[in-house]
Amino acid sequence: MNIREEFIKYFEKNGHKQIPSSPIVPENDPTVLFNTAGMQPLVPYLMGEKHPYGKRLCDYQKCVRLTDLDEIGDKTHHTFFEMLGNWSLGDYFKKEAIGYSFEFLTKVLNIPLERLAVTVFEGEGKIPRDEVAANRWRELGISEDRIAYLGSKDNFWIAGESGPCGGDTEIFYFRSNDEIPKKFDPEDDRWVEIWNNVFMEFYKDENGNISELKQKNVDTGMGLERIVAVLEGVDDNYKSSIWLDVVDKLEKLTDLSYEGNEKSMRIIVDHIRTSVFIAADPAGIKPSNTDQGYILRRLIRRYIRQARKLGIDINSDFDLEIASLIIKKYEKYYSELSENKNSVLEVLANEKKKFSRTLEKGLREFEKLVSNETKIIDKNVAFKLYDTYGFPIELTLEEASDRGMGVDVDGFYAKFREHQEKSRTASKGKFKGGLSGNSETETKFHTATHLLNAALKEVIGPDVHQLGSNITPERLRFDFPCDHKMTDEEKKKTEDLVNKWIEENLPVEKIEMSKEEAIKSGAECTFIDRYPDLVTVYKIGDVSMELCGGPHVSHTGELGHFKIKKEESSSAGVRRIKAILE
Ligand code: SER
Repeated sequence: MNIREEFIKYFEKNGHKQIPSSPIVPENDPTVLFNTAGMQPLVPYLMGEKHPYGKRLCDYQKCVRLTDLDEIGDKTHHTFFEMLGNWSLGDYFKKEAIGYSFEFLTKVLNIPLERLAVTVFEGEGKIPRDEVAANRWRELGISEDRIAYLGSKDNFWIAGESGPCGGDTEIFYFRSNDEIPKKFDPEDDRWVEIWNNVFMEFYKDENGNISELKQKNVDTGMGLERIVAVLEGVDDNYKSSIWLDVVDKLEKLTDLSYEGNEKSMRIIVDHIRTSVFIAADPAGIKPSNTDQGYILRRLIRRYIRQARKLGIDINSDFDLEIASLIIKKYEKYYSELSENKNSVLEVLANEKKKFSRTLEKGLREFEKLVSNETKIIDKNVAFKLYDTYGFPIELTLEEASDRGMGVDVDGFYAKFREHQEKSRTASKGKFKGGLSGNSETETKFHTATHLLNAALKEVIGPDVHQLGSNITPERLRFDFPCDHKMTDEEKKKTEDLVNKWIEENLPVEKIEMSKEEAIKSGAECTFIDRYPDLVTVYKIGDVSMELCGGPHVSHTGELGHFKIKKEESSSAGVRRIKAILE
């Protein structure tokens, strides 16, 4: 069964018009690098603008999500994926939407009722528990045991931090041959989420205020790779019909078997597919050091490194053959692939050429600079490899680990910063998908922690940096290097500085940039090797700039009064501060 086509057919039969997939690089939205959900190109229409195709729409939308970049290589994550969706723009609402989802799953896809379960929004603040949705599920035959109410962390949807949003109901499928438990437990990962129905009736502004939208909308999303894998009964997405022939081809081209090489092979096919779609986009993206071009470059270089790791001859055309197969598989749905085929292949080939020159030269130098006796590659060697031979630190790490060596990464970054002029080349704020689970108080503590770090640098010295941090709703905790017990005067000075910055009501800016840009900008980058290639930097006035996942308040004035409750030893040479906001 072709699920994509069945989906469109079903919704067309129910009065929906199919809209074409928008480009993955948003046409009119400079705040995001890529479309991350089917609803993104529809934001103006969810807000009330009239859509030329009417009030009932359906489509399959190309999406790229980079928040999961480090997860690629497992069974279920992808950087590129397609989302099937149907929308009501101020037309039908909960009852009909749930009815359509239920009918499509049970009548068109023939999923047995006993394999299904749902979560419903429990309500929060002024928004009540969604009994309308729950009652509709009951009416359709979903038993009480199979309905779970969850809070906003799970069942409230928004793209990023502001925009149209609302409570949602998510549909789960029992993917296992085990006996199906009577009671649904959303934490039990044999239940996998297959479809989300968002009831978009609110708008959240930049300050977090929620108001009602002009109209009540429905926004649904079903990940194609997941539903296909689920229905085909495979627990590894890369074994479903979406990937099988691609993985097969990679095995043949390289004489390697998927078995035993899963992680690298998944990264290779995933990244080639995403690179193909980015390079084919009408936006005409080329590998570069900024924005989408930077992502394209990282993806291409990453799959080449993985290929090298498997011993694949990177100068062969293995990548172009895979790319051609992907183009052939998808061109029926996305005409830009065949239209731009030559330029896509050229982009991939050129970037590989460029990278392999760096790679070969760097590898030769690596051998010269690093002796077999080396246990830890010295920061100066790592920096020379980077600075003189263009060897990215990730590669030094990889080469080192293949030889059982370590790398002084912190030392490398310290040197890196020393040698870089501070260039604050921040691009505009760009959001990542997902609602944060942090409470307001914890958010405030996050921001206060950055201020504390900055204040300690002034009071104790520039070597202060974060060695550990822990936040609870009651207090923040911060560990930092310092060789003495802080004096009362030092503590007071630190508090006074933080409180001065709070009184100044400094703006907190969120900036997304590449890791390299972040390092160059002089931002605090402790543990940078744990971060993905695209990072978020929070800048507080001119006093602090730190790599961090957030969330943060928008102005320091929101924090209240900062007070150090305790200063104690954490371990040799490390002090610990516990502080509160009053
Ligand atoms: N916008 C929702 C999601 O991405 C439903 O499409 O999950």
